[in-house]
Order: sequence, then structure tokens, then C-alpha cells
Amino acid sequence: VTRRLLPTLPLRAWLIVAYSAVLLLPVLVLFASGALGRDLVRQTRWDLEHQSALLTMLVGAVAADGDLAAHERVLSRHLREAKHATLSGIRLVDADGIVVASSGDRRVLGEDLGGDPEVVAALAGAGGSVVRPRPRATNAPLDSRSRRATVRVFVASPVRVDGRIVGAIVLSRTPREEVQALYQMAPAGLWQGAVLAVLATVAFGWLSSAVLTRSLSAVDRAAQRVADGHFDGLADLQRPKRSHLREVGRAALSVETMAVRLRDRLAYISEFASNVSHEFKTPLATLKGTLELLADDPDMPPDQRTRFMTNASQSVDRLERLVTGLLSLARAEETPDESIVDLEALVAASAERHGATWRGPLAPVRGDRSQLDAVVSNLLENARVHGGRAWVEGFVDGGRTGFAVVDDGPGISPANLPQVFDRFFTTKRGQGSSGLGLALVRAIVFTHGGEVTVASRPGHTVFTVTLPAADRSTE
Ligand SMILES: Nc1ncnc2c1ncn2[C@@H]1O[C@H](COP(=O)(O)OP(=O)(O)O)[C@@H](O)[C@H]1O
Ligand SMILES: [Mg+2]
Repeated sequence: VTRRLLPTLPLRAWLIVAYSAVLLLPVLVLFASGALGRDLVRQTRWDLEHQSALLTMLVGAVAADGDLAAHERVLSRHLREAKHATLSGIRLVDADGIVVASSGDRRVLGEDLGGDPEVVAALAGAGGSVVRPRPRATNAPLDSRSRRATVRVFVASPVRVDGRIVGAIVLSRTPREEVQALYQMAPAGLWQGAVLAVLATVAFGWLSSAVLTRSLSAVDRAAQRVADGHFDGLADLQRPKRSHLREVGRAALSVETMAVRLRDRLAYISEFASNVSHEFKTPLATLKGTLELLADDPDMPPDQRTRFMTNASQSVDRLERLVTGLLSLARAEETPDESIVDLEALVAASAERHGATWRGPLAPVRGDRSQLDAVVSNLLENARVHGGRAWVEGFVDGGRTGFAVVDDGPGISPANLPQVFDRFFTTKRGQGSSGLGLALVRAIVFTHGGEVTVASRPGHTVFTVTLPAADRSTE
């Protein structure tokens, strides 16, 4: 069971969807790879590091005695002002990591930050920074720079007085949120640009679908006409066959090939049907006449009655032979069963059955043994019925092999020669011949990828069958 996951849409819709996806790709990559987010964090950290460089100098100047806690009021005021300018949260800790001044709530005074890695690093004399997840602030105002930021960046730097570390400045801020950053990054004409890009995408999709569907629809229309039995639809395929789209060109060519085959097949069937009805007409008429006569005259003399019955029985025999011949012919036109056939053994056996001699090399061929046997038998049978003494000459020529059936009979007249392979062509209809023998030979040889030719003059008639030799390496 195939489940249809995708809807059936016109090509136009698919193209527009695909083009739009491509349009959004750069933005998606920027977000999905996290590159933008990482860059925003990095920017924030730099920003905070620069601020802390200045603030440590300020704090060092205010608390020149090294006692930070003693200057809490002045320091907190400076930090509040700094926060106002930079939007960073600022805390000042003493050498033990205890908060001694803050840019915000005074309640944090006395809090111990001595365990935070960035503070530990700063009090050891290096700068430290840490990125921490941040609980979502869903009620933050829309224009807040940190509305949906998921992390907060912390940076700590040592405060030195006379070369001694007396505390550390801890700054923190959320980086800008990605969509916001993107929005702020864009030039003033972002919206006009986006609208233009979308319009251009739709226009491209529309245009390319128009080009595509025009040739596809032409193929479709032509195929429809052919399906309706109008073979003039083939002419409409010439344009799409030259399409610049290779697939469309190929589809047009395939439809044309299919249509030509169909047309040939239809012609073949109607010719075949008329041949068959023509052949069946005479024996059927004889049968019908006989039955009518017998019915009309119940007191017919026995010898006359016997004559009529013999006629009728011959007609039935003929019909039977025709039906058998037609069946073989139909089978011969199907793709044959493939196996390696020892042509030499086959010809030898057939020649012996028909009392003919054979010579020459014969290579194995690929095909249907009983059908190939029918070829040899029919040719030898014809030589016996229509010709004279017969023999077979085998040959191998490069990748091909075959045999010639030769007889020294009266030959075939130049007028008849082109017709001998036709269905129902026979010069011995009176003797009950069906005229299907050579048609069968031709059909079998043809489906085996070979060919059969005839040459004839009085006293020398040659039917030559050539077949592709079997490639044993493929066994
Ligand atoms: N070896 C031959 N010598 C002379 N005529 C031949 C030979 N083989 C075929 N023909 C001619 O070709 C015709 C068609 O042959 P075929 O298709 O086998 O039908 P059929 O044998 O039933 O007549 C024969 O009626 C005959 O006139
Ligand atoms: Mg024959």
C-alpha cells in the first residue's frame, strides 16, 4: 500500500514552493547552524570585557585605599550610572567574592559569588567569562533586547589597587536575540527587499512552469489524440521532440515510437484479418453448400452423396490445417524462449528425417529449439514438395552462423519470388497447401534476430537462414 504523503499539485505550485525554500535557505543555515547565535554571544562578551576594563580603572580610582566595602554608596551610584549607559548588570565583589556594590537591587549586597568560576578566575588575576542558561522572560516588552534570549553572558575582571587584587567587577548581559539581530542588521529597505524577492521567486516559478508545461502539455495532447485513434497527432509531436528539455524530448520520442508501433500493429491486424477471412471463405462456402444440398435432397444417390461428403471433409481438413498454421504463426511472433541450441545436431537430425544430406560448420545459437526445428523442417519439406533433391550447407561467419537449404527442383518464377514469404501464398492450394510455411519460417527467424533470403533459378533454389551465433561467454 503506497501512502500518498504529498498532494498532487500543478508543476507551477511545486516550482514556487521549491524556489521559496531556496530563497529562505541562507537564513535557515544561519539559524540552524547556530552561527548567528554564537556570534551574538561573542559580541556580547567582547562588549562586557571592554566595559569591565574601564570599570576596574574607575573602581580602583574611587577606592584608592583598597577597601571596597567602605565606598559602597559612591561605587553603587557609579555602577547604576554605568548600567544606565550600557544596559549591563554590574556587581562588585571583594577579594573573598562577597558582593560589596551593585548596579541594581541593594539586597544582593553580601551575597557570596566566590564559587562562580569567572569570579574565581578574576580573583586569581585572570579575566573570566561564563555563558549561563537563562529562564525565559515571557512578559518582557517587545522592544527589549533580551526578549527571547536563552542565555546570559557573565564576564569578571580583577580590580587592582597598587598592583594588589582587592576584588573583581562582574558584568552580565543577555546577547541580542537572533531574529531581532537579523532585523537590526538589515538595511532600511528590508521589507521592500523581501517583498521584491518573494515576487521575483513567484514570477520565476510561474515562468519556468509555463515553459515546462507548454511542451509537456503538447506531448499529452498528442498522446490523447493517438489514444483516440487519430494518428495525425503524431505530427504534433515534432515540436516537443525538439524540446530543450531532454526529458520532454525523450517522452515525445517514446510516445511517437509507441504510436507508430500501435499504428503498424493495427494495420497488421486488419490485413491479417482480411487474409484469414479470405482463406476461410472457400472451405466454409464448400461446407455450407454441401450441407444445404444434403438437407434439400435426402434421397441423393449414395455415390453422389459420398463425393459431397469427401469434399466437405477436405474442406474441414483445410480449415484445421489453417487454424494450426495460424496458431504456430502467432506463437512464432512472440518473444522466443531462450536457451543455447546446438544447431548442428538440430540440422543433422532434421536432414536425416527428410532424407537429405548436410555438410559444413554450424555454431550454437540462442533461441527456442522446437521453433528453430520448424524452420529447418519447413524448408526441407518445401524442397521435397515444390523442388527436387535437397541438401543443407552450414556456415559460420564471424558472429553469425546459419545454413542454406538447396534443391535442384524447377525453381520459383521471378513473378512469384517476392511473394513466397507472404501469408497464404501458395502455388499448391489445390493440393491442400496452406501457404503458411514460409511465413512461419520468416517470423521465427525474425524473432531470433536473424534473416532469411531466397535465390532461385531453374534447377537451383537456395533458402539461406542467418542467425546470431550464441555468445557462450554470457552463459
Ligand atoms: N524449394 C522450393 N522450390 C520451389 N518453390 C518453392 C520452394 N519453396 C517454396 N516454394 C514456393 O513458395 C510457396 C510458398 O511456400 P510455403 O509458404 O511453404 O507454402 P506451401 O508450402 O504451403 O505452399 C510454395 O507454394 C511454392 O510455390
Ligand atoms: Mg511449405
